[in-house]
Amino acid sequence: MTTASAPGKIILFGEHAVVYGRPAIAVPVAQVRAEATVIPSRDTVRILAPDIGRELELTTAPVDNALASIVRFTCERLQVKAAGFTVEVHSTIPVARGLGSGAAVSVAIARALTSFFGQELSAEDISGLAYRVEVLHHGTPSGVDNTVIAYAQPIYFVRGRPFEPFQARRPFLIAIADTGVNSPTRIAVGDVRRAHDAEPERFDELFDQIGETADAARQAIVEGDIEKLGPLMSRNQVLAQMIGVSSPEIEALVNAAAEAGASGAKLSGAGRGGNVIALVNDESRERVEGAMRKAGAKRVLVTRVE
Ligand code: PMV
Repeated sequence: MTTASAPGKIILFGEHAVVYGRPAIAVPVAQVRAEATVIPSRDTVRILAPDIGRELELTTAPVDNALASIVRFTCERLQVKAAGFTVEVHSTIPVARGLGSGAAVSVAIARALTSFFGQELSAEDISGLAYRVEVLHHGTPSGVDNTVIAYAQPIYFVRGRPFEPFQARRPFLIAIADTGVNSPTRIAVGDVRRAHDAEPERFDELFDQIGETADAARQAIVEGDIEKLGPLMSRNQVLAQMIGVSSPEIEALVNAAAEAGASGAKLSGAGRGGNVIALVNDESRERVEGAMRKAGAKRVLVTRVE
């Protein structure tokens, strides 16, 4: 029996624009995790995900099923026959809330299978396998989710280029508040694509501006200028509204966070629902958490970016 796990993630800056080649910044969130265990069994391959009531037989699973796909892709990569084991998945990462649950489950399964078969794969290989599943699910993923989760470190990411890891000169706290609204990435990404197709110049300009917030934020983070981050988050949120991926639930949490003393707040991930992130400190943290709960957050957790 072998077990492996992977963290959740948040995108600090640059979601959506990253699909169009602009930079994004993402960090792992260790408080939420996906875990996969591989147990030897007879003949067939079964995949169990009791938390979401899913039970699959590999031979009969739909070709585009994410759980079955990562098992198939990993076995192909390891050059082993997909037979004679059961994969059981558990995850504390909420599904379809912008915290990378799909990529984390893929990474955990790929890692657990790799060690089950006594082999080793690099983080790059594991990330690549998870990326193939993301492609099945939302067509044109930038690759930011699978990368930050497979490497489990803060990254500055531009599609199609090697990512650049970075370190925060001064650690900072991000409150992550769940709107409670499911938002499949595929739908938001598809809507943005249609909007971009209809008004390419306007959207390219907005994507440029989103990319600029990501660049400025990286500089502020590595230089320890945390004061600059809040206004950049708020700027990114305004731009996210303009590309059509905010929502009343998101705005309620963003406004509540700002009124309670967060120095900036924005959606994180695909938007339309999912999670809102707010920059807090030891002094504002409890007030902001309380205000976001009062404004409808289903749960709030605080992560430290080092
Ligand atoms: O999977 P989510 O909800 O974290 O969103 C991913 C971020 C997007 O930029 C919207 C899509 C992508 O492929 O980068």
